[in-house]
Parts: sequence; structure tokens; C-alpha cells
Amino acid sequence: MSAPWRSALVTGASAGIGASLVRLLAERGVARVVVVARRGDALEALAAEVHADQPGTSVEVLVADLADPDGCAAVEARLAADDEPIDLLVNNAGFGTAGAFWELPLDGEAREVALNAVAVLRLSHAALGPMVARGRGAVVNVSSLASNQPTPGMATYGATKAFVTMFTEGLAQDLRGTGVTATAVLPGYTRTEFAAAMGGNGPDPEAASSIEAMAPAFAWLTADAVAAETLDAAAAGKVLCVPGAGYKVVNALEAPLPRTARRWLIGRLVGAPARLAGRDG
Ligand SMILES: NC(=O)c1ccc[n+]([C@@H]2O[C@H](COP(=O)([O-])OP(=O)(O)OC[C@H]3O[C@@H](n4cnc5c(N)ncnc54)[C@H](OP(=O)(O)O)[C@@H]3O)[C@@H](O)[C@H]2O)c1
Repeated sequence: MSAPWRSALVTGASAGIGASLVRLLAERGVARVVVVARRGDALEALAAEVHADQPGTSVEVLVADLADPDGCAAVEARLAADDEPIDLLVNNAGFGTAGAFWELPLDGEAREVALNAVAVLRLSHAALGPMVARGRGAVVNVSSLASNQPTPGMATYGATKAFVTMFTEGLAQDLRGTGVTATAVLPGYTRTEFAAAMGGNGPDPEAASSIEAMAPAFAWLTADAVAAETLDAAAAGKVLCVPGAGYKVVNALEAPLPRTARRWLIGRLVGAPARLAGRDG
């Protein structure tokens, strides 16, 4: 299957879903992929792998910290470059923090908002002006099923993902008739470095939290499966993509529930912040 884009920029490409997306874009014949993350060595290794496996694709490495305004500005400049336009932007970089919000370091929470929400806003803005002017293009924002209800114990994470889903749905409506599409992807549990990177300072196996233990083995998706459904949905111009048959069912069952019922249910399933903080909630 070939992709409808000549070029793409993928954030959070050094690991997990982002790296799978880059490999798949190359397999599907995209000629140029710009890869963005903080770990330049991992991005260079991915570029070398793609060069060996898919020589028709050139990979451009752009090292940037997207929780930082200067890092965002460098990527915005690349998205705005007229000589080598970007047809597909994938805002995928993100991390989570877990614990009682008031006990977590405020800087980490603010960086989580800066990366998961503000960078998505800024890069979408930089990409969409040129795409709409050209009358073609696509923006994919990787959100989470966590955006459908509050997330006790990960309050900031769920709030950032609610922003991403709602922002993308709004964009999709505004973009009707422009030739440009916006797609929000809502994965459930996916095996990546996410659990080990909780806190946002890069992977730390010591810090791999109880997230792994929160879901049974059958609930975990692979990054490759999420990447494949993501690209299919974006190519079809879909507004929402929930990868995996099981999670599509969860999403459909959850949608008609009143907010109070969702809040009650998730509180019972996941536990209240007070419990996380060692108090009986
Ligand atoms: N895994 C899941 O269960 C799951 C479920 C739902 C949604 N998601 C979402 O899927 C997306 C991808 O996550 P993943 O699961 O693939 O996690 P991952 O394996 O930890 O990958 C996260 C990526 O984001 C990059 N990143 C982190 N902080 C960054 C920063 N400040 N600036 C630039 N890049 C940064 C990381 O690269 P560097 O460390 O090199 O910067 C890495 O490439 C995230 O938005 C996540 O919220 C994941």
C-alpha cells in the first residue's frame, strides 16, 4: 500500500509509536521523513536503518526539545520551509506523569502541558498555513483513550489529551473544503517506552511504574499496529482513529455514558489520587 504523501514530519520519532510510524512511512514510499526528538543518537540509528531498508526514503534528523519554546521554534521553521514542504505532520511526542497532582513537581507538570498540548498547537499552526495554501496535507495528533474521561492519578496527562482530541476535532471541522485533514488518534495501552519514561526525563527502567501491571497482557497493542491504523485513518481523512478492535468496543460503550457515570467508573477502576498518595480513598 502506498501513502498519499511525499513528505512527512514525525515528532517523538526516537522510540515507540513514532519510530514505527517512520518505518511504515518509508515502507509506504514517502520520499522524505523529518524525524524529531531529543535523543539524536536514536534518531541517527533510525535514519541509518531506514536508509538500509528503504533507500528510496531520505530521513532528515532534527534534534529538538519540544517542551521548550526554542525547540518548538526550530521545528516550526522546518514546517514553514517553502523549498521542501511537509505534506504530513504527526504530533506524536508525549509523556505522562503519575501521582497525586499536588505532590508532583510543578515543573514536570508544566513541561507535560508544554509538550503534550502547547507543542501540538504550535506545530499544527506552523504546518496548517502552508498546507491550506497548497490545498493539500494532513495533520495527525496522537492523543489517547485517556482523553475520553478524567484520569485519576494522571490528572494532567488526561487533561492534555482531552485538549488534543477536542482541538483536532475542531480543526477537522474548520478544514472542511480546504483539501487538508486533521486526525486524532486515541490509542489504549501500547507497548513502548512510555511507562519507563514516566516523568519526562527519558527512559529509566528503574522508574517503570505500575502502569505495566495495570493492564492484562491481552490489552496491550504493539506500536506497529497503532502506526498502521494511524496511517490508514489519516490517508482516509478520518477525524478519529481508535486503534485495535477491543478498544473500538470500549470507546463505543463509553461514548453514551453521562460524565458522572464515566467519572464514577474510572474512579473505581483506576483509584483516586488520595489512594495513590497512600491514603485510603
Ligand atoms: N504507550 C501507550 O500506552 C500510549 C497510550 C495512549 C497514547 N500514547 C501516546 O502516544 C504518543 C507516543 O508515545 P509512546 O507510547 O510511543 O512513548 P515513548 O516510547 O516513550 O515515545 C515518546 C517519544 O516522545 C519523545 N519525547 C519525549 N519528550 C520529548 C520532548 N521534550 N521533546 C521532543 N520529544 C520528546 C521521545 O523521544 P526523546 O526521549 O528522544 O525526546 C520519544 O520519541 C504519546 O503522545 C503518548 O501520550 C501512548
